[in-house]
Amino acid sequence: MTRTHAARGAAAPNALAGTWAAPGRVNLIGEHTDYNDGFVLPIALPHTARATVRLRADGVLRLYSEQGGGAAVELAVTELAPGGVDGWARYPAAVVWALREAGHPVGGADVRIDSDVPTGAGLSSSAAIECVMAAACNDLHDLGLDGPQLARIAQRAENAFVGVPCGIMDQMASMCCREGGALFLDTRDLSARHVPLDLVAAGLRLLVVDTRVKHDLADGEYAKLRAGCERASALLGLPALRDLGPDGLPAALGRLPHELRRLVRHVVSENARVERAVALLDAGDLRGLGPLLTAGHASLRDDYGVSCPETDLAVEAAVGSGALGARMTGGGFGGSVIALVDAGAVPAVTVAVEEAFRQAGHTAPRTFTAVPATGARRIA
Ligand code: GLA
Repeated sequence: MTRTHAARGAAAPNALAGTWAAPGRVNLIGEHTDYNDGFVLPIALPHTARATVRLRADGVLRLYSEQGGGAAVELAVTELAPGGVDGWARYPAAVVWALREAGHPVGGADVRIDSDVPTGAGLSSSAAIECVMAAACNDLHDLGLDGPQLARIAQRAENAFVGVPCGIMDQMASMCCREGGALFLDTRDLSARHVPLDLVAAGLRLLVVDTRVKHDLADGEYAKLRAGCERASALLGLPALRDLGPDGLPAALGRLPHELRRLVRHVVSENARVERAVALLDAGDLRGLGPLLTAGHASLRDDYGVSCPETDLAVEAAVGSGALGARMTGGGFGGSVIALVDAGAVPAVTVAVEEAFRQAGHTAPRTFTAVPATGARRIA
């Protein structure tokens, strides 16, 4: 995973230019656990951000996005500063800034980005842009960083330059996921295991429902939740909530103010659900995942408070029409829902969700099925 060079046997990659791809993700289970040093289990989506990058010698970073409305953004790399760039361009700019901040000799480049990761849908479209840029810079500048190191750079870019206090899940998923499996990640030390997930062989599909409710993590709610978890772990004298297991939960809850109890309950039960999910996948019991997904949603809705009427309705309609289980995925406050569905039931579940949205007067959702895809790589 150290290098993202084109396939072996291909002509030697151009040292000054090339094209890279990095995917969006859905998280199967393990939500709001990553900034608590806990466990997550994401898969990469087939949807990617692609970046064609050509080095320049004049220190100018010229950014263009096919989805950016036509205008290119030109920045001097020496003048990059947190808060200094708006819109989509802040993601690639942030990565160049973070690499330079970490002491890597990254200069100017022409960058053309094209992405089919839905934006504002909780599918990590911004992490995909950050990771594709990190992979491109790593190869073109011969930095020799591995996937987790690049994910840390991308997270630093998002935290310090973009200003979103996210955890490491999205960037690790985009950098390190592999086709055909989920990434069982311990966010404390970034140790990871690829867990095979052959949905098709099991006669199953993962239906993704983008509720079209715009999910925006920069609005402060996410930061408040994160701060609440950090306060709880400090009050309990723990390095992180990850260090509290289900056995210690009742006593710990008794030591916390009311408003923090529900947060802690979610994080502890969610970490246990990730471990249970991995045990089920290891045992080949993919169907067993269904009830865990639905239980995870109930916890995010009732304890963590990050679902919304549209995600709740999508989960209810999916499960009510035969899905084995369903939950919101990602940070919440809108975004997407995943449902584990028998292959033959995909049309019926899709129609049931669409019909429920229509009856409730919500914008029509966007749906697609996803299989676990590959992380960041050089494609040309
Ligand atoms: C967002 C953040 C992640 C993670 C999830 C919730 O996607 O970027 O780091 O915290 O929310 O699990």
